[in-house]
Amino acid sequence: MIGKLVVFEGCEGSGKSTQLRLLSQFLTERGVDFILTREPGGSKISEEIRKIILDGKNTEMCDECEALLYAAARVQHLKETVIPALNSGKLVICDRYYYSSLAYQGYARGLGEQFVADINSFAIDNYPPYMTVFLDISPEDAFNRKHGADKNDRIEQLGLAFHRKVYEGYKALEAKYPDICAVDCSGTKAQTAEKIRNLFIERRVTEQ
Ligand code: TYD
Repeated sequence: MIGKLVVFEGCEGSGKSTQLRLLSQFLTERGVDFILTREPGGSKISEEIRKIILDGKNTEMCDECEALLYAAARVQHLKETVIPALNSGKLVICDRYYYSSLAYQGYARGLGEQFVADINSFAIDNYPPYMTVFLDISPEDAFNRKHGADKNDRIEQLGLAFHRKVYEGYKALEAKYPDICAVDCSGTKAQTAEKIRNLFIERRVTEQ
């Protein structure tokens, strides 16, 4: 029995970490066999690549290099962590996946969806998500909620105009890919958590 891959996506400050924590508690209470992992990262080599990508000192990194490093971290993470877990029947919950690359590098950096899709074809063609939960909150509201960006993170430093483009990228992707389910995050954390749990039930995520 092959497990399902469920991805969480969203802009900076969308409350992804909190929601993933609450969801993990819910799944654990229900006895679901799952792993929680993240991108970029989730394996030793991918975590090393993550440090290079996010290091605020790497100011000379060009957009293509950035996109290729995310794709490199992704394929290693898939082969080392995600695929073995799916093959052993586990539910895999992944904090970000290739839609992040399409929104951040494809749309916001301006590399284009085709370039980014091409370098991620291993993931897109072979391991599409069963469901993608897009935490839908505008970057303006998210920034207000988070009280500003992390000064040392290369991507978070980019400012509101960049993050607006990311958001618009996600909205375009949502209109195009049926596995993306937008969850309105304008309510309380508890309300958002309930919407996510309902989605898991509606889409039969934890059923065999
Ligand atoms: P992280 O600290 O994990 O951010 P968050 O908590 O918002 O998920 O850093 C991941 C950063 O990398 C985040 O700014 C989004 C960005 N990113 C891309 O630009 N492209 C990608 O393909 C992925 C996976 C992440």
